[in-house]
Amino acid sequence: MADQKLVNLKINGRDVQVPPGTLVIEATRRIGTEVPSFCYYPGLSLQAACRMCLVEVEKMPKLQTACTLVATEGMVVRTDSEQVKNARKYMLEFLLTNHPLDCPVCDKGGECELQDMVFRYGADTSRFVEEKIHRPEEKWSELVYYDAPRCILCFRCVRVCDEGMDVKALGVGMRGANSVIIPNREDHLECEECGMCIDICPVGALTSGTYRYKTRPWEMEYVSTVCTHCSNGCKTTLSVRNHEILRSNNRDLSGINQDFLCVKGRFGFDFTKHPERIKQPMVRKGDKLYPVSWEEAAQTAAAKLKEIHAANGAGSIGFIGSNRASNEENYLLQKLARATFGTNNIDHHRTADYTGLVTALGEHAKDSLLTMDQLYKSKAVLLVGNDPTQQNPLVAWQIRTGIRHFSSKLFVINSKEIKLKRKATQFVQVPANHEAAALRFLAHEEGQLQPGLVEQLVLLKANLEKESDVAIVFGAEISGAAIAQLVAFGSKLPGKTRYMALGDYANSRGAADMGVLPDRLPGYAYLDNTGAREGFEKLWGSGVIPSGAGMTASQMVDAAQNGKLKALYVMGANPLSHFGTLGYGRGKLDLLIVHELFLTETAKVADVVFPAASAYEKDGTVTNTSGEIQSLRKGAEVMGARSDFDLLRILSHQLEKVGLGKAFHYKSPAAVFEEIRKAVPGYNVEITGLLTGGAEATQVHFSRNGHAPYDVPVGAIKSAQDTLFTSGTLGRFCTMMESLPEAEAKS
Ligand code: SF4
Ligand code: SF4
Ligand code: SF4
Ligand code: FES
Repeated sequence: MADQKLVNLKINGRDVQVPPGTLVIEATRRIGTEVPSFCYYPGLSLQAACRMCLVEVEKMPKLQTACTLVATEGMVVRTDSEQVKNARKYMLEFLLTNHPLDCPVCDKGGECELQDMVFRYGADTSRFVEEKIHRPEEKWSELVYYDAPRCILCFRCVRVCDEGMDVKALGVGMRGANSVIIPNREDHLECEECGMCIDICPVGALTSGTYRYKTRPWEMEYVSTVCTHCSNGCKTTLSVRNHEILRSNNRDLSGINQDFLCVKGRFGFDFTKHPERIKQPMVRKGDKLYPVSWEEAAQTAAAKLKEIHAANGAGSIGFIGSNRASNEENYLLQKLARATFGTNNIDHHRTADYTGLVTALGEHAKDSLLTMDQLYKSKAVLLVGNDPTQQNPLVAWQIRTGIRHFSSKLFVINSKEIKLKRKATQFVQVPANHEAAALRFLAHEEGQLQPGLVEQLVLLKANLEKESDVAIVFGAEISGAAIAQLVAFGSKLPGKTRYMALGDYANSRGAADMGVLPDRLPGYAYLDNTGAREGFEKLWGSGVIPSGAGMTASQMVDAAQNGKLKALYVMGANPLSHFGTLGYGRGKLDLLIVHELFLTETAKVADVVFPAASAYEKDGTVTNTSGEIQSLRKGAEVMGARSDFDLLRILSHQLEKVGLGKAFHYKSPAAVFEEIRKAVPGYNVEITGLLTGGAEATQVHFSRNGHAPYDVPVGAIKSAQDTLFTSGTLGRFCTMMESLPEAEAKS
């Protein structure tokens, strides 16, 4: 763009230069001059419905709408003339003819664009005396309410639902002054319940079922953090009053997701105050769990761990980390397992094969991992497996928006007819579990495939070879050796190829990066690499890290059934409901310790349960599926619950007292992050970016040093198959989401 010829124009006497194709409204914003607007919304199609943005342009006979007028060479624009000011005043007078002016009780009061515009540009009286048309408020779903008289017919909601979401659940009914917005099922909505329409509405016409009439905007504090549901890592701003979350949105359009949030990010926060939250430590006495003091719980846990370690050795104890806990907490858990207990029996519920991807890319991982912004701007996207609309909503949004804004192309290989198929340039349907075989054919033109499929794949390859850059995005269907095939194919494409593995939960990627893996240290370093092991031993200053791979999560659950594992330590996971080929009970375990928010299947049968804080209740960092690291900030406070960071710190002190390992002396998660920055290649990111709410690409990479190709143990990667309305344990306790008819239909 550097050599692109700029367009010169004058705005209010000031010389302005803009790239060709820039709208006058955007040109005015560049120099900090406000042109009021309602229907204009960057990124959506132009509507020219509200006439608020009228400006005077020399040599044009009447006022022009700045939101549809493209800046041209020599154009002279005035936004501050008497004629313009009067036009704004009259437009607002029109908009208010039928408006109820119920600002004192309207949810939007205090953050309403109409209120602000009238304050700034409106008249103090109205010449209209006609009776206003009244319509009762409509409840379209548990989450979306519509108040027609407040509606200013800007159609932002209709466009965001159609163009942004590709749902098309909203339309316009009636005509003229009687026009209203209507839902897709006569009197109610059946849709993705994302709430984007509510968020984008400039007035209080669309209101949220979870927030309405609860508070006023100035009574809340605003905490920017990261959504705790899927792995996409949307930034969200929690609106908090008295330590309670009342709303979640991203109205400041910052972060990797701009204003996008799906139903889970926008409405899935009520689990924080669910009555079934665990608020006190518990210890098993006989066949029941009893509330006990923190001291008793921590002492019981430490004493029993020490006893089992002394009697049965390190290999008899296993640790399962969390794909929702922070990077710092996962790092500390694996440090506890390795440095204190001397075992590599550490894993988590792996929902994508990040190890496989980083291994296949080796040093190239530095510049070959795809960020969310690069996905949006990619010329072509190859999606293999997964259903992003359901499982990775921001990824789906980025792909759809890229197609709209840049005419990028989407190619899909999937066994199911996923919703994104309708946006695809080419859709290749493979038989179930044949995604990897298709990749093998693409990479090496080998393998047995149906004849029709071969032709489609040949065409797909030819299509991708025409593109200057290709984003390859894949789900849990592709792991281990299949990722090597994928990278072999991608590296043969003539343009730049970047990759993104799609996991399921908020810190799926972070848990893997932090070495919560039985066969890799933090940063995916090989366990049989003596140098890497010694480096960590030196950094941690205690214990000796064993060299052989430990048990995977499912092997640990099986070993619990057959008595090979004596103790299992679980932080924020529910392995007894996810894994195990031999059964799902606690089996022959002598000790089961769990950090949890709720009495899950695993927590119910534990010996010691610690009440854990959720991601909305603590500080730290998480890494999304595209390897972008962001800060968690504490929004809510739940009495009795403590962060996993605190819990591990408390336990380490008790363990030191009984003669096992060294206590953790980190003062805060930030101190742990400092260690991670030193220990994990690619995590030495800019702290200021994180502190100011930005995302930093981690670029985790490592040198393969000539090691044998990696393959993943059977059953180690398991997608949770969440839908738009489910989210593992947290989703089960999101009362509002659970009550949606769409959730029932999808689960
Ligand atoms: S909630 Fe989302 S999907 Fe439903 S109507 Fe609004 S924008 Fe469309
Ligand atoms: S409901 Fe809101 S967003 Fe939709 S047309 Fe009315 S004012 Fe605009
Ligand atoms: S797309 Fe994922 S990260 Fe974003 S709001 Fe939805 S659940 Fe949260
Ligand atoms: S913002 Fe230009 S017509 Fe509405």
